[in-house]
Amino acid sequence: MSSRGWTGLLWWLLMCYYCDARTDTCIIGCECVGTTIECQSLDRESFPANLDPDTEILRIRESKISYIQRNALAKMPHLRVLEISSTDIIYIQTCAFSGISNFTSIKFSKNNITSIVQNAFALVADVEELVFENSKIDTISTQAFTKIRDVGTFRLRNLTVNKLEREAIDDVSGVLNLHVDLNKFAYVGQSPLNKLVNVTLNVSQNIFPSHCGVGDIYTNVDRETNVILFFRFNVINLCACNMSLLRWQTSAAVTLDENTCSGPPEIAGSFLNDLADTPFCQVVGANRTTPLWCPVTRQMRVLHNCHAFGSPLIPQEEVKDPRIAEDRDSNNGVANIESNVYLVSVVLSFLFYLY
Ligand SMILES: *[C@@H]1O[C@H](CO)[C@@H](O)[C@H](O)[C@H]1NC(C)=O
Ligand SMILES: *[C@@H]1O[C@H](CO)[C@@H](O)[C@H](O)[C@H]1NC(C)=O
Ligand SMILES: *[C@@H]1O[C@H](CO)[C@@H](O)[C@H](O)[C@H]1NC(C)=O
Ligand SMILES: *[C@@H]1O[C@H](CO)[C@@H](O)[C@H](O)[C@H]1NC(C)=O
Ligand SMILES: *[C@@H]1O[C@H](CO)[C@@H](O)[C@H](O)[C@H]1NC(C)=O
Ligand SMILES: *[C@@H]1O[C@H](CO)[C@@H](O)[C@H](O)[C@H]1NC(C)=O
Ligand SMILES: *[C@@H]1O[C@H](CO)[C@@H](O)[C@H](O)[C@H]1NC(C)=O
Repeated sequence: MSSRGWTGLLWWLLMCYYCDARTDTCIIGCECVGTTIECQSLDRESFPANLDPDTEILRIRESKISYIQRNALAKMPHLRVLEISSTDIIYIQTCAFSGISNFTSIKFSKNNITSIVQNAFALVADVEELVFENSKIDTISTQAFTKIRDVGTFRLRNLTVNKLEREAIDDVSGVLNLHVDLNKFAYVGQSPLNKLVNVTLNVSQNIFPSHCGVGDIYTNVDRETNVILFFRFNVINLCACNMSLLRWQTSAAVTLDENTCSGPPEIAGSFLNDLADTPFCQVVGANRTTPLWCPVTRQMRVLHNCHAFGSPLIPQEEVKDPRIAEDRDSNNGVANIESNVYLVSVVLSFLFYLY
């Protein structure tokens, strides 16, 4: 073969190697087209943190990912759409989404999540929609969602939540719509929605275990906090007579109707707004509290930063999962081999050309 022929062959090999580079950074189980990555049946426990940094759309479904570690998205600065569905997630860890902004959509659906720990969604800003739907969540920890700013719609819909801890959604502002609808909560802590400012809050068609925590949802509705509240069509499994006092606090910014109590038995089926008029509550007094005391949840100091771990169950080492390190190394390895091959090819073809 002439030297030109050799050069041609080398260039061809080189180009082929180079054209495959993108698919090489695409991990097994994913399909990477342009800046979109779609993954299915990922057989790994950690969130794939070393995908193409140019990725704009990432969809993961039916996978074994069991935790979303800290800074999971940090290496994909252009990400706009993130969807995770039909996946069993044990933890969404502290600061998993720290610093993310300018997203169009972050959506979790049909997942089975054990715990969204404290600060998991701290400091998320400038996102059009943040959605959790059609899922089972065991625990939404205190301040799982904190200091969220400028989100178009933040929705918790059709979730079965075992524990919504006190102040789970805390200090949120600039969120145009906060929808909490069609959920079933087995436990609700004090002030589950805390320090909300400038929000239209729609809490509808949920099932709450008792009056505890529910009253706190609408204690801070006034002109200063600028909260517009719709609290409608909810069912409270165990009401307290003094809940009806809440209607006196309502203002024009509050729509509070069609909420029913399914217990205690004497008032089952009554509307919340009519409780005070029921014979049961009239006998015992509209401010009857016993035996429906709310358990006072332990007050602990909560830190608003990424160094505060939400759960003692997560040792810090877990963040440095060996598999993540492996991934990073092998990715770098691939890149290095590629660049070496590239360099050698260039030098060789240049030599052949001279020859
Ligand atoms: C957000 O994204 C839009 C379009 O994707 C872009 O024009 C804008 O500059 C981005 N803003 C920030 C603050 O990154
Ligand atoms: C969700 O996860 C829990 C704990 O791992 C498990 O017991 C349960 O069966 C799972 N539910 C579904 C619907 O996958
Ligand atoms: C609610 O979510 C469950 C899965 O958790 C799903 O089977 C059901 O169809 C959903 N219901 C609605 C009304 O979306
Ligand atoms: C709430 O909205 C008002 C008026 O739009 C604004 O002045 C105020 O700074 C906002 N507060 C927060 C905490 O975003
Ligand atoms: C509130 O949510 C319910 C249930 O999703 C919906 O039917 C209703 O239209 C919403 N109301 C407002 C004012 O957004
Ligand atoms: C609670 O009931 C007592 C007596 O039954 C009454 O004196 C008191 O004013 C009531 N408190 C409120 C806030 O209605
Ligand atoms: C109802 O009674 C409980 C227990 O005393 C109290 O903590 C709660 O603030 C009362 N709710 C209202 C709306 O008065």
